[in-house]
Amino acid sequence: MPESRRFVLASRPTGLPGPEHFEIQTGETRTPSDDELLVRIRLVALSPWQGQRLKDFRNYTKPFELGELIDCDVLGEVVLGNAGGFGKGDLVTGRLGWQEYALAKPDQLLHAGDEFDETLWLTALSSPGLTAYCALDMFARPMPGQTLVVTSAAGSVGSYAVQLGKLAGMRVVGICSDRKRDIVIDRLGADAAVAHDADDFAERLSDACGEGAHVVFDTVGGPVADAVFDNIAKYAKVLMVGRTVSNNSERPDLDYVNLRQLWAREASIQCFSRYSYPREWAFARERMIELCRDGKIVAIDQVLDGFENTPRALGDMLAGKYTGKVMVRYA
Ligand SMILES: NC(=O)c1ccc[n+]([C@@H]2O[C@H](COP(=O)([O-])OP(=O)(O)OC[C@H]3O[C@@H](n4cnc5c(N)ncnc54)[C@H](OP(=O)(O)O)[C@@H]3O)[C@@H](O)[C@H]2O)c1
Repeated sequence: MPESRRFVLASRPTGLPGPEHFEIQTGETRTPSDDELLVRIRLVALSPWQGQRLKDFRNYTKPFELGELIDCDVLGEVVLGNAGGFGKGDLVTGRLGWQEYALAKPDQLLHAGDEFDETLWLTALSSPGLTAYCALDMFARPMPGQTLVVTSAAGSVGSYAVQLGKLAGMRVVGICSDRKRDIVIDRLGADAAVAHDADDFAERLSDACGEGAHVVFDTVGGPVADAVFDNIAKYAKVLMVGRTVSNNSERPDLDYVNLRQLWAREASIQCFSRYSYPREWAFARERMIELCRDGKIVAIDQVLDGFENTPRALGDMLAGKYTGKVMVRYA
């Protein structure tokens, strides 16, 4: 049986994580039992929630234990076993973590297939695309002509919110760092892209929002979201999907929200967690497959190479070095 390496948590970071917070464990894989499959992992997806779980604070996820395998969505190939409709050679996705081989039960896996580029199964057709689809479809009820503001518009989830907003006929304002503005406009199709790292951010945002945002798709929180709340329309809907700023902070307890403006505009805040809607999640996957098939969705991503580079890639991703979804290729 092949040897396999895996990353476990060695110590908790307070700020951004680095290689020093992880340990590599090596061991021989075991032969799968009758209801198991051995999966060789090809691609792992990096996500901000991994950064949150390294720390010792609670939100919608629970912290990793010291010595625990670092969990994440992966794409892999079944190399041994035959169970639950899966067999050798099948491409699959599942939550199997930072390891080279994994033993999985069939109910941990979904078929991927070769219709699309491998990376799409971890981007548009996985958490990033499906989170954007579910949150907008279930809670925004977007209407043509309304203004949608997306706070991390070049981000992993935000890039799909921008595109789905455009497909729904909305006017989309994306917020991103200055160097990503072209991507947000030229590749994702936003009507305006406002740089949160520019000195005149507040003025530009106000110009771009015009009469005010009807829907806010927020994965960032902190001062960026608070600036958006200064520019919302009456009865605006705020989809609170993530809090990147506070989660990356050494003081997540110091999160704040511009409640006065939300109150003044009679806005509603809908907090959202993908884990609460398994039925809608499956529906969103089918719909996103159709949209990808019709060529209506662009995936923005970056693939790095090499198992050993995973921890550094996570720290760099959380620091904003990359654009879109970040994946690491293991095989
Ligand atoms: N609720 C759910 O079910 C659910 C599902 C998926 C993700 N999430 C959450 O959504 C958030 C975003 O996830 P994601 O995967 O889409 O990540 P992401 O937006 O791609 O996150 C990285 C990007 O965040 C931006 N950023 C980082 N620090 C910032 C700051 N101080 N101010 C403004 N922007 C900053 C950077 O983009 P720029 O260079 O453009 O600034 C960076 O590239 C996370 O908190 C995640 O936990 C929630």
